[in-house]
Amino acid sequence: MTDVSPLFRPFQIRGLELKNRIVMAPMTRSRSPGGFPNDDNVAYYGRRAAADVGLILSEGTLTRRRGASDDANIPLFWGEQALAGWKRVIDAVHAAGGKMGPQLWHQGMSRKPNSGHFPDAPSDGPSGITLRGKKVGEEPSEAEVLDMAQAYADGARDAKQLGFDCVELHGAHAYLIDEFFWEVTNQRTDRFGGSIERRAEFAAETIRRCRVAIGELPLIIRISQWKSVDYAAKVARTPEELGRWVGVLRDAGVDAIHCSQRRILEPEFPDVDGPKGLNLAGWVKKLSGLPTISVGSVGLTSEFTGAFRGEGSAAGKLDEVVERLERGEFDLVAVGRALLQDPEWAVKVQQRRFDELRDYDASALFTYF
Ligand SMILES: Cc1cc2nc3c(=O)[nH]c(=O)nc-3n(C[C@H](O)[C@H](O)[C@H](O)COP(=O)(O)O)c2cc1C
Repeated sequence: MTDVSPLFRPFQIRGLELKNRIVMAPMTRSRSPGGFPNDDNVAYYGRRAAADVGLILSEGTLTRRRGASDDANIPLFWGEQALAGWKRVIDAVHAAGGKMGPQLWHQGMSRKPNSGHFPDAPSDGPSGITLRGKKVGEEPSEAEVLDMAQAYADGARDAKQLGFDCVELHGAHAYLIDEFFWEVTNQRTDRFGGSIERRAEFAAETIRRCRVAIGELPLIIRISQWKSVDYAAKVARTPEELGRWVGVLRDAGVDAIHCSQRRILEPEFPDVDGPKGLNLAGWVKKLSGLPTISVGSVGLTSEFTGAFRGEGSAAGKLDEVVERLERGEFDLVAVGRALLQDPEWAVKVQQRRFDELRDYDASALFTYF
């Protein structure tokens, strides 16, 4: 039987004490009509906190830029009514003994135009270029780019004021911050475009502004090589490029990097260290010296995009994930679908109730409890 004890050792990120290594992955649920967290959202997060998830990352929640999203059921992270809802969420999580940070999100050019909370607002992006490389709008001025960065910092400030324990920036999956990282969508020639360091400058600017806004509160950024339109895409083709990329994020003041993969056991650079080599979080930890969160099909046998095609996933073993954690390849393990379906997943693993861990059922995408 798998020895899962390494998953239940405490960990610290910049003064934030976590009771174990299990993180609830950010998962958009579109269950906040009008953008306002409600009773159902309070109960949903509170239930997972009560069942020993070490750190909850909220679903992507929107910055104040009007074009941040294409779905008016995604929660806002600004404005009196939405923040009052979030206050109830964090209070419930704390009352249940949990820790939580919002994932601040701006969809950038991934947004479907003319939709969301403010259908008339234009979409933001580095260069007015779609994920398919088509020029559809003007490149925003530097002042506008700085306002996009400040919008995350304003959310981070509010998170601190509400009593959240940390903040995560969504810098992955071809959304706004990632569109600056990615050459396809970033064709700028000013300080925000060009080399990998310059394409990371928007994230760095955002991180620095967040740091001013939140002081000592831990700040995490989520990154990915893969894009929603291209799973084989690479921002960094070599460890050397990856080191330059994450070095900019570290130097700007981020405390941990959440490395999004679809399959946690997949090596990032197999040509360099073989088919059992380090995964993305392993490389990022080695190259940046920062704590990392790893993710992707933990406790399941197939990857998450199938969930959106109506696919379930059989429960899988945790052995190799635990071994890698134990070796120090990464520090924390984020769990998505398994926790979506079963709020008690973490406590069942801790108590070795493995026979109670069910397969992921496709219908879990549509239930909410
Ligand atoms: C329903 C659903 C919604 C998601 N929404 C987000 C999101 O808002 N932000 C984000 O960074 N990732 C999002 N993801 C990706 C998850 O955070 C996670 O990386 C992915 O599901 C892989 O983990 P898993 O295999 O344990 O499910 C979502 C995934 C699912 C299934």
